[in-house]
Amino acid sequence: MGFRKIFIAIKRKIFIIFDLLRNKDYLKTVYPEELGLDSSRYFKSSTCDNYYLKEVFNYIKIGKNDSIIDIGSGKGSALKFFLQYPFIKIGGLEISEKLIAISKRNLKNENQNILFFFNDDAKNFDRYDQFNIYYAYNPCGEEIFDGILEKIVNSASNKKYLIYNNPTCEELVIKSGFTFIKDFDSGWEHRIKLFSFTPDKDNKVKIQLKN
Ligand SMILES: C[S@@+](CC[C@H](N)C(=O)[O-])C[C@H]1O[C@@H](n2cnc3c(N)ncnc32)[C@H](O)[C@@H]1O
Repeated sequence: MGFRKIFIAIKRKIFIIFDLLRNKDYLKTVYPEELGLDSSRYFKSSTCDNYYLKEVFNYIKIGKNDSIIDIGSGKGSALKFFLQYPFIKIGGLEISEKLIAISKRNLKNENQNILFFFNDDAKNFDRYDQFNIYYAYNPCGEEIFDGILEKIVNSASNKKYLIYNNPTCEELVIKSGFTFIKDFDSGWEHRIKLFSFTPDKDNKVKIQLKN
C-alpha cells in the first residue's frame, strides 16, 4: 500500500470515530448480504472522499438553478457534501430501505426543503428529468446501469451532466449518447469522469442499449 493510500485509510478511520462521537453513520461500509441484496448483482455500499468532487463542481460552476441526484446514495455522505453548494434540489436515490433510513437520520437537521429521498431501484426510477446533474459512485454493473442510462437519456428534456466516480461502465455511458468532458482525481487509482448529454430536438431518438 502506497503512502497516499495509507494516509486516506487512516483519515477514514479517524472520520468514522468522529461519526460515532456525533451519533452519525455516514462512512462504515455495508455489504449487500447485510441488506438482503444479492452480492452477485449489487456492490458494497461505501463512500469515497467527497473532497475530490470540489474540482468537478468548480468546473461545472454550480449555480442556483442546478439540481443533483445521487444514484445509489447509500448513507447520504455525498448528499451532505452537496449541501455546501447552492443546489435548488438534492435527491438521494437508494435501493436499500435500511440505507435510506440511515441517510434520513444522518441528515435530519439539514434543510429538508431541498432534500428528497427516493427508496427505489434506479433502473425503475422515473423522475430523472427533475434533475440536471447525476452523481454515481459506481453503484452497479452493466446489467443494471444500462437500464438507468436508458431512463435518463430517454426522458431528458435539457442538458444533463453525469459525474461518474469509478466509472466501470464508461463504455455504456458513451454508447448511450453522453460525451466525455474531463476526468478528475478521486484520491484512489480510479478517476472521477464528467460526461454531458444534450437531447435531440424534442428528444425523439430513443435509445435501447439491450439487444
Ligand atoms: C458505492 S455506494 C455509493 C454511496 C454514495 N453514493 C456515496 O458516495 O456515499 C453505491 C450504492 O448504490 C446502491 N445501489 C446499487 N444498486 C442500486 C440500484 N439499482 N438502485 C438504487 N441504488 C442502488 C447501493 O445500495 C449502495 O448504497
